[in-house]
Amino acid sequence: MLLSVKNLVTCFYADEHVNRAVNDVSFSIPEGKTVCIVGESGSGKSITSLSIMGLIERPGKIESGEIIFNGIDLLKADKKHIHSIRGNEIAMIFQEPMSSLNPSYTVGYQIDEVLKLHQSHLSKKERYAKVIDALKLVGMPYPEEKYNEYPFKLSGGQRQRVMIAMAMACEPKLLIADEPTTALDVTIQAQVLELMAKLQREKGTSILFITHDLGVVAGIADEVVVMYRGHVVEKASAKELFTNPLHPYTKALLNSIPTPGKVKRKSRLDTVDESVDYLSFPKEIR
Ligand SMILES: Nc1ncnc2c1ncn2[C@@H]1O[C@H](COP(=O)(O)OP(=O)(O)OP(=O)(O)O)[C@@H](O)[C@H]1O
Ligand SMILES: [Mg+2]
Repeated sequence: MLLSVKNLVTCFYADEHVNRAVNDVSFSIPEGKTVCIVGESGSGKSITSLSIMGLIERPGKIESGEIIFNGIDLLKADKKHIHSIRGNEIAMIFQEPMSSLNPSYTVGYQIDEVLKLHQSHLSKKERYAKVIDALKLVGMPYPEEKYNEYPFKLSGGQRQRVMIAMAMACEPKLLIADEPTTALDVTIQAQVLELMAKLQREKGTSILFITHDLGVVAGIADEVVVMYRGHVVEKASAKELFTNPLHPYTKALLNSIPTPGKVKRKSRLDTVDESVDYLSFPKEIR
């Protein structure tokens, strides 16, 4: 296993109240595979990925559990080591590319900064070649010209490509993508997904993909983790999950997918009955 999350608990503190946003979550990501976390808004998907990245800030705190990456527990290893793993071997793509790109610097400069930080042995010339390669790899048209472009002059899909190029520039073993396509239109969405699949084929990258969209899950996932109110209620291979869902919550989610011939047009997961407490059912973790 490349990554194993074991019994992770991440809480947010407000006055007397403790919100266990991630509550005893366990799952694993095999090398070269795509694992999807799916669940409705507020179920703890982002907090799970931010916990892995070490980006939980006050009033949040990782309470307990293990995050084992390549045999090393990221919650226990010394800070310097962890910093280097998180920077070089795990990369993250966020939902809103504009919030993680700096509007005042060119695209090329920002990818170059990532390389400077994490691959300091490279010369300036070598870095330039790598940046152009990264832009080519993500299918950016006219990479030499785009190198000198500012983010606001790019389309949403192109910005997302820059984010992926930045994330891939260090050739991470694990790429975490938190709803990377939600803000994009359907055609661009498909292109970005295809691009990630291509990177996976070429570089053997493992992907943790977070989404509301079960259509996307069906297209890319090897394994699926279903989250509900901070808990994992079901874990299965994509095939098993779609053909034989066991947990009532998963069944409800799958029922909210549009089927041809039905009028209902909903692929978002906000259609699940809120009056049911799905945690009262036994977990179905295979
Ligand atoms: N900075 C924060 N301060 C306090 N509580 C937070 C903070 N960030 C998240 N939470 C809480 O943690 C829980 C899980 O949030 P999380 O962002 O992981 O949901 P999500 O599954 O990613 O939802 P979405 O699909 O809307 O992105 C929620 O109850 C949320 O209110
Ligand atoms: Mg989220």
